[in-house]
Amino acid sequence: MSRDTLLKILDLAHWAPSGDNTQPWRFEIVSNTHIAIHGFDTRDHVLYDFDGHASHMAHGALLETLRLAATRYGFRAGWMLRDGCDDTAPIYDVTLHPEDIPEDPLVEFIESRCVQRRAMRTTPLSEKQKQALRNAVGDEFTLQFFESFSDRLSIARLLWLNAKIRLTCPEAYPVHRDIIEWGARFSTDRIPEEAVGVDPLTAKLMRWVMQSWERVEFFNKYLGGTIIPRIQLDFIPALACAAHILMKPVGRAVLLTDHVRAGVALQRLWLTVTSFGFYLQPEMTPLIFLWYVRSQKQFSTEKALAVQAKKMSLQFDNTFSTKEDDSFSFFCRVGYSKQPTARSLRRAVADLNLE
Ligand SMILES: Cc1cc2nc3c(=O)[nH]c(=O)nc-3n(C[C@H](O)[C@H](O)[C@H](O)COP(=O)(O)O)c2cc1C
Repeated sequence: MSRDTLLKILDLAHWAPSGDNTQPWRFEIVSNTHIAIHGFDTRDHVLYDFDGHASHMAHGALLETLRLAATRYGFRAGWMLRDGCDDTAPIYDVTLHPEDIPEDPLVEFIESRCVQRRAMRTTPLSEKQKQALRNAVGDEFTLQFFESFSDRLSIARLLWLNAKIRLTCPEAYPVHRDIIEWGARFSTDRIPEEAVGVDPLTAKLMRWVMQSWERVEFFNKYLGGTIIPRIQLDFIPALACAAHILMKPVGRAVLLTDHVRAGVALQRLWLTVTSFGFYLQPEMTPLIFLWYVRSQKQFSTEKALAVQAKKMSLQFDNTFSTKEDDSFSFFCRVGYSKQPTARSLRRAVADLNLE
């Protein structure tokens, strides 16, 4: 393996998705056949990175993308979590061995896979496609599909409630403010404004309002400030899709590696959806608020939000027929649409290298 090939593999792998495009990984090239991936998480300042789970899932998505990318160059990649690492700074040792293996069919979708936050068509998934998605995530996870109009309407209602929590939570405000690159169509380290999913006028207004928490509060309180974003970002997209998919682990997700494996599965699911010509949007915030409720962890100083989150968790159980002790890994919606005109890009591999 030449250094050049290794860099090509990393260049493909770094297209893996991460929550809010945080790219919580750095690469240490130990040798031409050994990369140490230094993961980190954003739980200390990002409300949505509950116990680092979202970052751990992103690590899994990266490891799977790297494994797939290696097959393009005739290498088999395997990873192991290094012993003794803290959960906040896991190191994954990836080793590559030359082998006579064909390129994995998912490799061609690594770069074109991207999130679609806007309305998609309701053209349903075929049974064959649904089975391909089940095969993609493997035996450790199950998939539930919610496709009918009444299911999508129930989920739209759930997301409506969930979005109110998100948009009125003071602790979520700095996250929303910092992750959007305003006025941009592409962003290497954040989400560009045009990929957020609102119309240009609403984006302008959001940009102005989000300059201070006082403006957000005033707007929310007196001018129904959450209504338009909730319609555009949650209610309409929840109806305008082929299906919502809930991915559950067969056992309970307890260890760091359980979340990493969920990341492997979600990336395989996403790439397979892309191979159908469909798009996907993760819908993780209801699960995240549910994690807070179930673990009885406080996520806000605003007491009313804990009550709303509890109400949302009951509605979640109602909608999905789930129970208090069920585990969930990933929730998303999928559908056919035109290619989004805006998307997140990535930091250059050279900037991600620890050398
Ligand atoms: C674990 C995880 C959670 C995510 N949660 C959400 C989400 O709740 N809502 C959303 O719109 N996108 C979500 N995303 C998508 C990321 O924002 C997106 O992958 C990232 O900005 C890079 O953009 P790209 O996928 O278009 O390349 C999530 C991605 C991952 C890996």
